[in-house]
Amino acid sequence: MAKVKTIGILTSGGDAPGMNAAIRAVVRKAISNGVAVKGIKKGYQGLLNEEIIDMNARSVSDTIQRGGTILGTARCMEFMTEEGQSKGAQICKKHGIEGMVVIGGDGSYRGAQALSRHGINTIGLPGTIDLDIACTDYTIGFDTAVNTAMEAIDKVRDTSSSHERCSIIEVMGRNAGYIALWCGVANGAEDILLPETYDYNEQAIINNIIRNRKRGKTHHLIINAEGIGHSTSMARRIEAATGIETRATILGYMQRGGSPTCKDRYYASIMGAYAADILCAGSTNRVVAYKGGKFVDFDIEEALEMQKGISDYEYQVSKCLAI
Ligand code: ADP
Ligand code: F6P
Repeated sequence: MAKVKTIGILTSGGDAPGMNAAIRAVVRKAISNGVAVKGIKKGYQGLLNEEIIDMNARSVSDTIQRGGTILGTARCMEFMTEEGQSKGAQICKKHGIEGMVVIGGDGSYRGAQALSRHGINTIGLPGTIDLDIACTDYTIGFDTAVNTAMEAIDKVRDTSSSHERCSIIEVMGRNAGYIALWCGVANGAEDILLPETYDYNEQAIINNIIRNRKRGKTHHLIINAEGIGHSTSMARRIEAATGIETRATILGYMQRGGSPTCKDRYYASIMGAYAADILCAGSTNRVVAYKGGKFVDFDIEEALEMQKGISDYEYQVSKCLAI
């Protein structure tokens, strides 16, 4: 017997491929549990604007393969305030919404925590391409984003080799270097610049480019993380110092779009169902995670206090394989 009659679902912060698979799973699992579902459009902003729709099993038909989020998403400053959070909880109560699944990153979790404090049961799901949520080894969208970026980087590499150029390719990730590290290894980059490890020693990169030319390499691929940025000016300086044509490519938002990979569809589906189950059973202030090979849940506060970083071993391997 479910402990709640109606739950809501929203997506918040940056969209990520696989969010639709998670929404679909939440809706269908809750309905199977005998619980009604309302969709909140455009994140916390849509909640404050009362953009709320009834959802049924058919509302999520034909969505599992689509990128983006069918509910829309937003960043909402008003929800950072006590007044905004209290208003959001009042609106939930007005619409009979007793529990809410929030799909987003750490910021969205803080919003969920606030709703929970105001008496609305909340469960967070990790939705971000950046993989920068400490409590989980997997976030919805990362797998698709790295595959999209990897394919794009392969294409840049073709032209870079043909022209014997150096290429700096900037990938997303906010302040985290996970996308850069994974692409750097998967694309066989000669240099990988991560916010967590980069020492801003550009001379070392220049020396590496010159050394690799002498070894007979026809290209030099540098994957630069968004958290370091400045790829265009870096390219100008490297070209001036090495005499080798150097181009910067900033991959940008294409990394956030597109049809989710099988992994993102599968994990998002299981996590969405898990979130619906624990919310229907009366849990609150929890986040669903994938940790140590298992789907688990943590208290939001505990989850937000956790730390994670780039594995030193994996980073050392990436350097070793680039010779
Ligand atoms: P992400 O969820 O991907 O980390 P943001 O940090 O932009 O993305 O957060 C998304 C939204 O979550 C914000 O626009 C805001 O509405 C809400 N949010 C962020 N931080 C807080 C907070 N401390 N308290 C309440 N709501 C927050
Ligand atoms: O969190 C996902 C992400 O794409 C980051 O990689 C990037 O820093 C940020 O969102 C960009 O946000 P916006 O959509 O607000 O430009």
